[in-house]
Amino acid sequence: MRRRIVAGNWKMNGSKDLVQQLVGPVREQAGRLDNGAEVVIIPPALYVSAVQAEAGDDLATGVQNVSQWQSGAYTGEVSADMARDMGCGYVLVGHSERRQLFGETDETVAAKVEQVLQSGLTAVLCVGETLEQREAGDAERVVATQVIRGLARVEGESWSQVVVAYEPVWAIGTGRTATAEDAQAMHAEIRNVLSSMKAPAESISVLYGGSVKADNAAALFSEPDIDGGLIGGASLKADEFISICRSFPAGS
Ligand code: PGA
Repeated sequence: MRRRIVAGNWKMNGSKDLVQQLVGPVREQAGRLDNGAEVVIIPPALYVSAVQAEAGDDLATGVQNVSQWQSGAYTGEVSADMARDMGCGYVLVGHSERRQLFGETDETVAAKVEQVLQSGLTAVLCVGETLEQREAGDAERVVATQVIRGLARVEGESWSQVVVAYEPVWAIGTGRTATAEDAQAMHAEIRNVLSSMKAPAESISVLYGGSVKADNAAALFSEPDIDGGLIGGASLKADEFISICRSFPAGS
């Protein structure tokens, strides 16, 4: 049985006021859901403690990035061990904005995944193709390469700390979503790639991200290989996010 997860990636948005307005209602209406989904709030790192104060034990928290190094003279960086120390359960690694705007390569992504696993947290490896790559018929190869390289250092028991998020770059923040069928096809392919890496593919959660909203989440989450979502813009609106968290099919 794979973990169902809905994670809200606030990106560089939020404030003390937003934490106050949003986290309480999400906790009340989406914490400890009977559909079994784990709800994760991933605010800017500075706000993790404030979110936790509102979330209690009902919601998990995470950070959007960590250093590829363990500790030391790396001004401005935050380590995976620090994220664990502060009570986070999850770390996003290799989000397309990190790859595109901050020059993260598959090698840095692999080093960050290793740090996260060593710290005992769950790494959410983000992968996805650009529009040009999709139109050139290259989407599957691009995504497979990101999975293989990003998870190159994972072995043995630590696969249980890995989650993959498929986020087509052309769907992030654009209002364009992959159809449930296209997303399902890529998720199945990601699972094939994981199998080829000798990973326990059937037990690794693969989330979809990219303009997930209350009105498209149910179709996506009812696909057999889609185990939940990584939600950007819609995670900043309590009602919308709560409704996404409740969008898993009943009885499974
Ligand atoms: P979006 O972002 O839901 O705003 O498209 C998703 C993400 O980047 O994680």
